Amino acid sequence: MPDSYNVAIMGATGAVGTELVQLLEARDFPIKSLKLLASPRSAGTQLEFKGEAIAVEAVSADAFKGVDIVLASAGGSTSKQWAQAIVEAGALMIDNSSAFRMQPSVPLVVPEVNPDAAAAHRGIIANPNCTTILMSVALWPLHQIRPIRRVVVATYQSASGAGARAMAEVEQQARAILAGETPPTESFPYPLAFNLFPHNTPINEQGYCEEEMKMINETRKIFDEPGLSISATCIRVPVLRAHSEAINLEFEQPFPAAEARTAIQQAAGVKLVEDWQANYFPMPIDATGQDDVLVGRIRQDLSHPNGLELWLSGDQIRKGAALNAVQIAELVVAKQWLKSPAAIAR
Ligand code: A2P
Repeated sequence: MPDSYNVAIMGATGAVGTELVQLLEARDFPIKSLKLLASPRSAGTQLEFKGEAIAVEAVSADAFKGVDIVLASAGGSTSKQWAQAIVEAGALMIDNSSAFRMQPSVPLVVPEVNPDAAAAHRGIIANPNCTTILMSVALWPLHQIRPIRRVVVATYQSASGAGARAMAEVEQQARAILAGETPPTESFPYPLAFNLFPHNTPINEQGYCEEEMKMINETRKIFDEPGLSISATCIRVPVLRAHSEAINLEFEQPFPAAEARTAIQQAAGVKLVEDWQANYFPMPIDATGQDDVLVGRIRQDLSHPNGLELWLSGDQIRKGAALNAVQIAELVVAKQWLKSPAAIAR
């Protein structure tokens, strides 16, 4: 097993890409070389890694030669465009887009939940949707104690989910509105500053948007529970970074809140944040920049004997995207699950 790896980040200049660069450095991922790839617009831009400036390159098939791991976060169409070239170059693609998540041959991995699924990869491992990752790490420890029968979730999603430009746009909107001017709306269909709206992804014939269907289908795949009942309502809120979720759970049996609290305290990837006296619970401001998903306000559902309510906030760019991808890379390297194209073809 090599003791260090040639890594490329596709989408290195974006909100998640820049976080990937920082996390690889902060977590001391064993890197032999780091390639930073983006669109031709960014070619030549310098980004810093371990005190050295690295010039961003435009993505090309040649760029993947000799690369062991590609962390991709440049949108679904870019992932689809380059996946074959990445796999043919012998690299493992850890893909942050939704392009391959529901393909049966592509593992969809949250390392705290289903690490072993990664072993079966055929050159691509998908990083789940951000709200799905945050919900999965919070629900999995409870599901291990008493099976969850039904999940009803409402999300409060920050601008960061739509990328770096969208975050800047919310700030511009706030300034424009305060100055009495018309706010710019390029990344979003409506002003998000001082407003909120249902998630702006296409709506299906049942009335669910794409983001809601991702939460439903991806959670079932990650938990390996194809029949799990889930309903979701996804809302964008004028928060810059970190998503929050109000989650109602129905278990097969009553689940005492105190026991759920202990389970969250003991689980990896989550942190119990509750001060009932001070009315202090998870907030996106506190979740920002943190690895753990903050979980709190765990209480019995007054409307159902087997019900629990909980509230969480988690950094969408970190655990919801970049951190989860880096954890997958760490897992694959630790378990020696990198495969040659010949091994994948067998
Ligand atoms: P660029 O900065 O050159 O546009 P975000 O999610 O924050 O919007 O970031 C998206 C990332 O994906 C950026 O790094 C962006 O690069 C990159 N990207 C977008 N379109 C392409 C493309 N067609 N080819 C390669 N990279 C792309």
